[in-house]
Amino acid sequence: MTDRYDQVRAVEWVDDVLHLLDQRRLPQVEETLVLDDCAAVADAIRDMVVRGAPAIGVTAAYGAVIAARRRFAENPDTWRVAFEQDLVHLNNARPTAVNLGWAVQRMREQAEILQGDPVPGLLALARDIHAQDIQANRTMGELGAAFIEPGSGVLTHCNTGSLATGGYGTALGVIRSAWAADRLSSVFADETRPWLQGARLTAWELVRDNIPVTLLVDGAAAHLMRQGRVQWVIVGSDRIAANGDVANKIGTYSAAVAARHHGVKFMVVAPASTVDMAIATGADIPIENRAPEEVLELAGQPVAAAGAQAWNPAFDITPAELVDVIVTERGVVERPDPAKMSAMMA
Ligand code: MRU
Repeated sequence: MTDRYDQVRAVEWVDDVLHLLDQRRLPQVEETLVLDDCAAVADAIRDMVVRGAPAIGVTAAYGAVIAARRRFAENPDTWRVAFEQDLVHLNNARPTAVNLGWAVQRMREQAEILQGDPVPGLLALARDIHAQDIQANRTMGELGAAFIEPGSGVLTHCNTGSLATGGYGTALGVIRSAWAADRLSSVFADETRPWLQGARLTAWELVRDNIPVTLLVDGAAAHLMRQGRVQWVIVGSDRIAANGDVANKIGTYSAAVAARHHGVKFMVVAPASTVDMAIATGADIPIENRAPEEVLELAGQPVAAAGAQAWNPAFDITPAELVDVIVTERGVVERPDPAKMSAMMA
């Protein structure tokens, strides 16, 4: 169910197939891809047809349903062997967002206890993972918005909205809730080089949902903070370590450093499925390196001097000491440390 400030859905299960809004083509083209092949679902995650940690998890859950349907039809006696290979393939599509492995593992465990045709049981769990994600976002929206003083300006980075989740969004969910509660004077979004999640996706969602948004180049964020125009930086996460270190879109760390320097508060909003208590610190979080062409080209056109090389880490780590509050659906942790994180996740 959507409402006035929540109109977009990127992942949908319709007539027994998976519908993905192709985020590579937004905002110019709104095209939905229809998938009923698990390898194609893994490709869609790797190629960023669908992206954003929770949306990747939800997509993988439906991908597992598609895999089980095919493998069981091929051979009802031995289907589990090929199904496990499909799950491994899905899991390897992208490395940083732990929601992918979390969702795959939940589907694996569900399949292990199912007898006979696994599809109804797996589809029920995938739908539940999807619905729970939206519910978690609604809860986090309320919890996070409560921190924001009326009249505040906020800055966000990357896209953490309905496109990046089952719906509503994490950081953008807090912004939606805070806007609906009349707490925000302005919403600023970093364009988020090189893939332009802010310019292409966050701006598209917010304009569509009638929430005014002002874009800036990533390098303008510190200048914006120095002018006193934002009181909060609000971001999502792809993986949070047990000590509260946060992996998120490249550029998040710079925003956190600048925020602390300027006395701007820094909020991370992510479901419990993004918290990886098996990883002690951010140093152990795998960081995806993507193709140099994403930096050297724009929309397929070269923008860099021919012959230049490019380094393209897709994520960075913000140390816990720069985080003022982590918001999950299980509650909030201010000034995170290992003990507070353990208590919340217990
Ligand atoms: O490379 P992307 O677009 O998948 O990166 C997404 C992000 O970094 C988001 O900020 C993060 O997944 C949180 S989304 C709710």
